[in-house]
This record gives sequence, structure tokens and C-alpha cells, in this order.
Amino acid sequence: MRFMSLAVAAAIALNPIGVAAQAEDQGGPLIDYGTRFLPAIAAKGMVAGPEELASEAGLAMLKIGGNAIDAAVATGFALAVTLPRAGNIAGGGFMLLHLAETDEQVFIDYREMAPALATRDMFLNEDGSVNKQMAYNSVNAAGVPGTVAGLIHALENYGSLDLKTVIQPAIDLAEQGFEVPAALHLNLRSAAQRLAKNDEANRVYLAGTATAPLMGSLFKQPDLAATLKRIRERGRDGFYKGKTAELVVAEMQRQGGLMTQADLASYQAIERTPVRSSFRGYELVSAPPPSSGGVHVSQILKLLEPFPLKELGHNSAAYLHLLIESMKLAYADRSEYLGDPDRTAVPVAKLISDDFLDQRRTLIRDAVATPSSEIRPGTVEDRESTETTHFSIADQFGNVVSNTYTINFSFGSGIVVPGTGMLLNNEMDDFAAKPGSPNGYGLIQGESNAVSAGSRPLSSMTPTLVLKNGKPWIATGSPGGSRIITAVAQTLLNVMAFDMTLGLATSAPRVHHQWMPDMAMVEPGISIDTVNILEASQHKILRSDRTIGRVNSVQIEDGWLYGYTDPRRPGGHVATW
Ligand code: GLY
Repeated sequence: MRFMSLAVAAAIALNPIGVAAQAEDQGGPLIDYGTRFLPAIAAKGMVAGPEELASEAGLAMLKIGGNAIDAAVATGFALAVTLPRAGNIAGGGFMLLHLAETDEQVFIDYREMAPALATRDMFLNEDGSVNKQMAYNSVNAAGVPGTVAGLIHALENYGSLDLKTVIQPAIDLAEQGFEVPAALHLNLRSAAQRLAKNDEANRVYLAGTATAPLMGSLFKQPDLAATLKRIRERGRDGFYKGKTAELVVAEMQRQGGLMTQADLASYQAIERTPVRSSFRGYELVSAPPPSSGGVHVSQILKLLEPFPLKELGHNSAAYLHLLIESMKLAYADRSEYLGDPDRTAVPVAKLISDDFLDQRRTLIRDAVATPSSEIRPGTVEDRESTETTHFSIADQFGNVVSNTYTINFSFGSGIVVPGTGMLLNNEMDDFAAKPGSPNGYGLIQGESNAVSAGSRPLSSMTPTLVLKNGKPWIATGSPGGSRIITAVAQTLLNVMAFDMTLGLATSAPRVHHQWMPDMAMVEPGISIDTVNILEASQHKILRSDRTIGRVNSVQIEDGWLYGYTDPRRPGGHVATW
């Protein structure tokens, strides 16, 4: 109840009724959105992201004639300044593009890489247990950053503006500062104790006081501005070589880290073939390995496809039973088969094939939960955070971007490289530090994702496009570590199987199960009666105040753009033109 009220309030606050009225005067919109959960509506361009200044930085590129890729790069750099808990230049991510001119989708992998000196057991204590401090909070928790290479790759190959133009809003925000919004104040307040343990993070984010800056106070980041200017002047060499690289390596050497100048200089973003699947006539295009996202969203949707979902009723016990059991099957496969495709053969086609999933579906019992301990990964003949942030963009030319990037935990490793103003990621914890033991998200992962020099750790990030009649219809994605996949799957199911509007689909309460631990987390808003029925069906349920994901999406329908940011976290903003 409390959750639903918040959702309604946020939806109304984000979407003043005047926007819809203006659109109607022009002959649209053609979706009947009713009166609640109104999306933002635009005709020419839209950036749906986690923070207002960065969404507007992206929109400014669209307004000067740039395309969605220019806007994505501007938003990506700006979030490194305005959303330091997840926006970044020293992390990594995935960008999925739809290019109007060629009518193609392109997937850019700019995931972090393990340094060349990384070893399989580098996060183990002498007794064989996982050293969590080292895996989460040390300089060795950081993979070689990919964000700068990825954003510049996207811009140089698919953008239309120059780097100097698209990076300038980020530089201005860092140099001139901005008033601390409520969301940043709250994020820094909850992370203050952790950040204060690192002198440089304490200096940069907490003014050396171990307390968060006040809401509304001016927050400047001069070191970060200088780091961004080196990128502006020298492109990727301004980050992976020269002063910034030297400062990173100096900090590695000071703290016993493994990353070298050669690791930085050799980092490359890679274009990969996206995962493609379908659901009831819609085409899904999503993240391939080293993300597990596209594979498992596809599995969950396809496992559910034959069931009469709408007749069962949205979030009814009968529907949630099927949903939870499908999630368990997908995450069991994740533990066995997924990893960096450059190191291990990932049987993507098999895992999402009808034959394989028809067989897996037979394991879903009628109205009785199967204990996770009885579920093993499927047999495939050939053999592969709660943080992070996502934005979705559409432009006037028909290009669409779905981008998810991360430094893993909130504020990454909590370590700022002195003199750079940037936080190091702790993405190395997305490897299996000890195959078979849970990582920071409780995920059990296998040998296919063991730490390995030069490999990319397995991710759950799921930037996704849904095509309708072959054209982009929805761009979506979410943060949330292991919960990304289930948040995205439910949002899509809500639209495609339950005919919900984007706003309602995003706001509706979610559940999450990841096979191990054998526990379904349910958000506030799932009724106690439903929980009771699920428990009577032997489901183990964790009722939690914690939310699942934060989905930011754009939908394109009859030439109109509809955007919605998830009300689960403060600060989301749809910039419209
Ligand atoms: N760091 C979270 C993910 O990549 O899944």
C-alpha cells in the first residue's frame, strides 16, 4: 500500500498533466494511458535517466542536431559527475544501439577487464576462504576501466558531434559545480562511513568531514574536471595514457595493486552480436555474454510464453509461482554456463532454444515450488549490485540507445585515485572469487567465471530493445546487480503479456529469485494473501522494504516518444523535446 501510494505520487509529480494535453492538441498521443502512471511524452527527443542534469545534458545534444548516440555519450560523461554512486569514467558497461540509417542494432561491450597479473586465487585467504575486504574494497577489486573507451567508440563510429562538444557539459558540471540534489545527499549520507575510510574519497565527496554535503550546497569536483579535460584534449589517450594513467598506476603501486600502464593502454571496447529472441511476436534484442542479461531475460520470457498469463492475473499467486520457478531455472543455468565468451564457449543459442526451454519447462511443478537444491543447471551438449545505472534515449531520426554502466557497488570500491576525482570500480567481485561461493550479490558462479587474466567478469546488466513489426518499440534496462534481469523481465512481461502502459509496468511491484539462496524476495505491494498462498505452495518468501531494480525506459509508438523513470529511487528524470 505504502509502495503503491509512493509510485502514484511520483508518477504524477514526474508527469504534469499539461504535457499530455499539449501532445493531444497536436493529434496524439495514440496510446490510451488513462489518468494514472502517465509517462512523459515528447515528439522529437527523449532521455530517460537516473538524474536530471545528466538527462538534460544528453537532451541538449539532441537539440543542437546531435543524434541519440551523441546524447548517450554526453549523458554518460555527465553522470560520472552528478551520480557518483554509479555514473563513472573508471567503470564499464554495455551500450545497445538501434541505427535508423541501416535499420540495425549494434552492441558495444565496454566491460572492465582483469589485469594481466590477475590470478584465479587472488581473492582467497590462506585458509581458502574469500577475502571480502580485498574483493570489495581494495585497489585490486578494480578491473581495467572500459567506460571511456566504450563511450568514445560509440561516438566515433555512430555519433555525429565531436568529443569536445559532448564532453563539455560534464566538464562544466564538475568545474562550476551544481547544487546537491536530495538523491545525491541521501546517497552520500548512506555511504559516508565507507567513503571516509579512503582519505581521497573523504576529501572529494565529504569535504574531509566524513559527513555528506547538505542538500542545496554547491558541489564542485575540480580534479574530475581536469581528468575530463584530458579526455577532451586527447580522446582515449587522455585517459588510458598520460597523466590519468600515471596517477592510477601510482595508486596501484602505493597500495599493492596489480593494474599496470600496459593494462590501461591495451584496453579495447568490443562490438558483439546481441542476443536475439522473441516473445509473442515481439522481437527482443539484448545483452550477450559477458553479460548474462540477454540470455536469462530471454529464458524467463520464453519459459512463460505458453502459459495463459493474463488469465491467471497479474501478480496473482498462480502467476508468481510460474514466474519464480522460471527465474530459478534461469539462474541455475547462469551458475554453470555463463562467462566471458572470449575465454569460455557460452552456448547462447542452445540456452534460449525452444527445445532446451521446452524441456526445462517440464520441471515447473503445478502450484508447488521445487526446492532450489533439487534444481540443477540444464544439460547443454556444447559448452561459456545493487548498483549500476541505466538510461534510454530516442532521437528525432529514429536512433535509439539503451545503456547500462556501472562501478559495481554503490560508489564502487570506495577508493578515489588521488588527483583524478574518480572512483575505482570493484567489478572484480563479479568474477567467482571462489567458484561455488556466493559473491557480493549472493550469486553462485562457476568455473566459467573464475578470475582470469585479461577476461571480463560476468555481468547481469541487461540493456534491451524490443522491436515491434521490426521497428524499435521499447528501450529499457535497470541497475540492481543480480536483480537487474528479473526487474527487466517483469517490466517487459507487464507490457507484452499484461498489456500495461509503460508507467504502470514500471511501477508495479516486483519479485526476485536467483536460484540460490532459495528465497523469493517480494516488494511491498504484493498482497499478504498472495504471499500466504505462495508459502502454502512451499515457496520461501522474503518480504522486504528493499526494492528491486530501477527501470528507465523509452517507448516509441506511432511516432511519439513515451518515457518513464522508475519511482523506486529518487532523482530520475525524463528530459523531453
Ligand atoms: N556489477 C553488476 C553487474 O555487472 O551485473
